Amino acid sequence: MKPNHWAGRLQTLFTQEDIARQVSRLAGEINRDYAGKKLVVVCVLKGGFMFFSDLVKKLDLGPELDFVRVSSYGSGTESLRTVNLVKDIEISVDGKDVLLVEDVVDTGHTLRFLIEHMEARGAKSVRIASMVDKHERREAQVDVDYAGFHVPDGFIVGYGLDYAEKGRELPAIYVLRQDHA
Ligand code: IMP
Ligand code: MG
Repeated sequence: MKPNHWAGRLQTLFTQEDIARQVSRLAGEINRDYAGKKLVVVCVLKGGFMFFSDLVKKLDLGPELDFVRVSSYGSGTESLRTVNLVKDIEISVDGKDVLLVEDVVDTGHTLRFLIEHMEARGAKSVRIASMVDKHERREAQVDVDYAGFHVPDGFIVGYGLDYAEKGRELPAIYVLRQDHA
């Protein structure tokens, strides 16, 4: 369903079925990779919320769940971006394996910051699951361990991803046609 708000500016990129297939595939890999381990799955708010809720339902590891929220400020060039922690995790990750769950990894600054933050908190390992990986746009060194889709460029909305805080609730992923924006 494409609400009228978008006035024909959304073009479907990945359907609900495409997404569900990727969520199941990634959950299977995560269940195998972390069998017998103490996993903490951390949702990166706000964008990660939908992927996180679909993913954790398919994990059979008895994971602990927590949430972080960051804000980032571009100061001129994107590579000088500063990331701030708005809401920290509330449970201890000391000696535990951490899986960060995001909507999209773009320049990588957000995840680079969060990886270092989790390591500083004593995490035994830190990996990343992201529904979308825009790895061509990377500025900070970040590898997505569990990626749903690879998207080279373009602005996308839906499934947690927003445009000016709208569109996060959409169950599929769309390309936003910027020319009409
Ligand atoms: P980073 O550039 O990897 O630090 O990603 C920062 C944030 O940019 C992501 O968490 C998203 O919220 C946002 N972002 C990057 N690409 C898109 C997009 O195509 N649509 C919506 N948000 C995006
Ligand atoms: Mg985000």
